Amino acid sequence: TEETLVLVKPDGVARGLTGAILARIEAKGYSLVDIRLVEPDRDLLERHYAEHEGKPFYEPLLEFMMSGPSVAIRLAGNRVIEGFRSLAGTTDPTTAAPGTIRGDFGRDWGLKVQQNLVHGSDSAESAARELAIWF
Ligand code: GTP
Ligand code: MG
Repeated sequence: TEETLVLVKPDGVARGLTGAILARIEAKGYSLVDIRLVEPDRDLLERHYAEHEGKPFYEPLLEFMMSGPSVAIRLAGNRVIEGFRSLAGTTDPTTAAPGTIRGDFGRDWGLKVQQNLVHGSDSAESAARELAIWF
């Protein structure tokens, strides 16, 4: 078993989709180990998104992530890192497959790219680093 960090980002929380997203995660059989509502400050987000510093979407992404609370989830399960990213769908909600969180609930990428509802760690190293930041 392994652990990952899942975030329901500010757009997901504001749109009232936290329950629907949690229902999919629970239906898959993953275990909620810890869950909290977080209003991240800039320092937390700079650490979380360090790999993206300097990219054109970095500042808008931080602004968006400070626009409201996110739900942070410590999630456990067999191959949950890869499995949650599969549940989430591709980064761009416009092209995310139907049946995925971003494919079913995501709005058009052209609107605001960073608004793709969820985050999921992309490796065991990222998961350990990110879980230490949010919990
Ligand atoms: P996460 O699970 O959120 O990390 O998504 P990801 O791994 O599919 O995407 P990535 O780590 O590459 O980017 C992190 C976040 O930055 C994405 O979830 C988007 O919110 C945002 N993002 C990524 N690429 C772009 C882009 O080209 N433009 C904009 N505006 N935002 C982007
Ligand atoms: Mg990522």
